Amino acid sequence: MASITIRNLDDEVKELLRRLAAENDRSMEEQARVMIRAAVEGQLGSAGRIDQIEQTLRELASARGLATPVVAGKIMPRGLSGKRILLIIGGGIAAYKALDLIRRLRERGAAVRVLMTSAAQEFITTLSAGALSADHVFTELFDRQNEHDVGHIRLSREADLLVVAPATADLMAKLANGHANDLASTVLIATDKPVLIAPAMNPRMWAHPATRRNRATLQKDGVTFVGPAKGEMAESNEAGEGRMAEPLEIVAAIEALLDVGPKPLSGRKIIVTSGPTHEPIDPVRYIANRSSGKQGHAIAAALARLGADVHLVSGPVGIADPAGVKTIHVERAQEMRDAVEQLLPADAAVFVAAVADWRTENSAGEKIKKVAGEGPPVLRMVENPDILAGVGHHSQRPGLVIGFAAETRDLLRNAEAKLKKKGADLIVANDVSQGSGVGSSGVMGGDRNRVRIVSKAGVEEWPEMSKDDVAARLAALIAERLKTIVV
Ligand code: CTP
Repeated sequence: MASITIRNLDDEVKELLRRLAAENDRSMEEQARVMIRAAVEGQLGSAGRIDQIEQTLRELASARGLATPVVAGKIMPRGLSGKRILLIIGGGIAAYKALDLIRRLRERGAAVRVLMTSAAQEFITTLSAGALSADHVFTELFDRQNEHDVGHIRLSREADLLVVAPATADLMAKLANGHANDLASTVLIATDKPVLIAPAMNPRMWAHPATRRNRATLQKDGVTFVGPAKGEMAESNEAGEGRMAEPLEIVAAIEALLDVGPKPLSGRKIIVTSGPTHEPIDPVRYIANRSSGKQGHAIAAALARLGADVHLVSGPVGIADPAGVKTIHVERAQEMRDAVEQLLPADAAVFVAAVADWRTENSAGEKIKKVAGEGPPVLRMVENPDILAGVGHHSQRPGLVIGFAAETRDLLRNAEAKLKKKGADLIVANDVSQGSGVGSSGVMGGDRNRVRIVSKAGVEEWPEMSKDDVAARLAALIAERLKTIVV
């Protein structure tokens, strides 16, 4: 019998095989052989053979909450089965991680075609990338000299997704500015497919205004980013933000982009509020706050990715409506309250909006004018409805109610008080003070967040991460909580 390469198996499958082998006092190879032999000889059941072994492994895997595993020593196609990924490897020490990425993608059933820049070839060889992808590796020199005119177009179109990992500052700059002077940049500009970028560079290069500008341009152009992470760099004595995301994080981002991830929230209706509210003073002036809506919108998008039917009630923000979400636009707190109440009943509600606490008692119908000698107008304020508290104590209260607490001091004490007062199950507490040390621009309006999850059971601290990562983790937590709530 041909040899079986156990190390090519998925970690989860390996673990499964390890347990079965241990139970039977066999080596893992021997266990795999016995199972294949049994399947072939039909010993697993009269109708059995390969279907039977597949079924047995599926049952075992599902009992352990694992994905579809291995059949006859071969990895079964999983979430990315049939997907074609064009992986562009840029030059950088992180290129070695791209090799692992190829392996992880192929384990999940994806076809991976690799394109390497000449700088990438200084770090890893086309031979290794080719062996792992089981395909020809395209390089600037070779492909540009030999391809027909349509070569780069075909390369970019014959993929479902383009992934740049590692993406150097140079590759980002080229794409942001529309350069097409080598195969990688030409393919990137010729594509009509989604592009995912995993940057990897020295922290100073990542923080440079030019790189930040390029990143903002690329995001505006619809390019998705994964990472970079903070931490030790491969170069000695260097630390900071710039390390490439881990291969499995990149895989998760790919699954999210191709929408092939698990859908534990399908059939669940979830309301999310986001952004500030604007409380009019007169037709041209209003009271507002610094909320950008980034965190609330990211949560709505993350819940939708897990299959939820998401209704986002958004105050005035400068960012796009998230994909796959039903967005209702409002201006004032009272409008937000009405929109939310009309959406009840729901399975869960997440109140991320920074609702203005007060509004003017009567907003002027005409622009308030300066009148000589009368001094500034006096604004009489009245309290706005507390939307979260209203829903937290509503007769149609959703099974799971989550609030946010933006505080500049006494974070935990205030969060715990809000939990009780507003009838919430969880409060996501974040320190929005200038000295919070989160990101360079702070939490409000910035891209990063550090939160604590406060519930009756206690406080869970999450490390600082991007608002997208906070959203993904919160969505996973909501899915977990809703599992126990039957409607
Ligand atoms: N909230 C709400 N309606 C309001 C005020 C707040 O739904 N009128 C929600 C927010 O969306 C958030 C939570 O209540 O989930 C806490 O908001 P926050 O502004 O931190 O607290 P406040 O209740 O406004 O209290 P304070 O301003 O005194 O801290």
